Amino acid sequence: MIYFDNAATSFPKSPRAIAEATACMRTWCGNPGRGAHFLSRIASEKVYACRELLSDFLGLNAPERVVFTQNTTYALNMALKGALKHGAHVLCSELEHNAILRPLHALQQERDISFDTFPVVGRTHEQILQEITARIKENTAAVVCLHASNICSLSLPLAKIGTLCRSRGLLFMVDAAQSAGHLPIDMRAMQIDALAVPAHKGLLGIQGCGVLALGECISLSTLIEGGSGVNSLLRTMPEEFPERFEAGTLPVIAIAGLCGGISHVMELGLPEIEERANRLFFAARERIASLDGFEIYQPDTPGAVLLFNKIGIPSTEVARVLDKSGICTRAGLHCAPLAHQALGTPPGGAVRLGFGAFNTSAEVDVLWRVLRHEFC
Ligand code: ALA
Repeated sequence: MIYFDNAATSFPKSPRAIAEATACMRTWCGNPGRGAHFLSRIASEKVYACRELLSDFLGLNAPERVVFTQNTTYALNMALKGALKHGAHVLCSELEHNAILRPLHALQQERDISFDTFPVVGRTHEQILQEITARIKENTAAVVCLHASNICSLSLPLAKIGTLCRSRGLLFMVDAAQSAGHLPIDMRAMQIDALAVPAHKGLLGIQGCGVLALGECISLSTLIEGGSGVNSLLRTMPEEFPERFEAGTLPVIAIAGLCGGISHVMELGLPEIEERANRLFFAARERIASLDGFEIYQPDTPGAVLLFNKIGIPSTEVARVLDKSGICTRAGLHCAPLAHQALGTPPGGAVRLGFGAFNTSAEVDVLWRVLRHEFC
């Protein structure tokens, strides 16, 4: 089996994530903040240690503002629905995933929120800033955008957008679903107010939790309410972070796995991870480009994601044939219909290769041989 679907979830799972999640289930899986006993205390300490790790890794320097969620989509919903007020205007990029587009659509219906998209494809960083600036209106409240696309390796200049947002008094909310564990993120330096991060993709953890990291300047209302383990007499959620945003029992096993995954990422180092992804990208690009009738989208933007099509054959059919040969990819629109439109893929989308920490160039060679055998 060759796994090129790391943009959906990393696989195989990091041995460290497996070891930490297993140790949690075997030895310390109490309910943090919900028990008068040592297992609950150990669980609280372990979860806090993971907040500290994330706070350092993301340049937040405030572990209590690391909120654990179910997944990245949930974190984005919390940020958008917690921060945006009736009638606000929002800017997002043309590459956004439905994890941003659908909550914004729902807010359009419920709170009369409006939003515009700014172009990214074919633009320099300076041009992207100009495109954003040109769309800022009197009621613009936030820029909400991804860091890296889930269908190609384009990324946005977060530090520059953050500076622009701060100078114009706008909130800056970022979807790091595809970048955390691939590209450096420094929330303070990039002036990010809310950052949504998955545990199970680039950070090499397991499915079951996400993270919403909150800067000092953002104030959110809660999306859900419930037990927090503190101030039980209060009828409302407590003001303290992170308890205010963590109603109900935490996904402790996934948090333990995330801790293991991050330590693996830190040991490999982001430069090495980025370098490996670029090597695989270039190898795949050269191999696929050598075949007749294939199209590669954003071929000059290297990174962990490569998007291609065999012209005239539905992407789902190409992915099905690859799957029969044991090669895992994802085809179609990848929950990012606007992004596909921006890249000019056909209505059926395209085939995505998502490279991960454990892929090799020998696997790219196998992909090439299968494509050549089946489609040329
Ligand atoms: N959003 C993930 C993807 O792009 C699941 O595949």
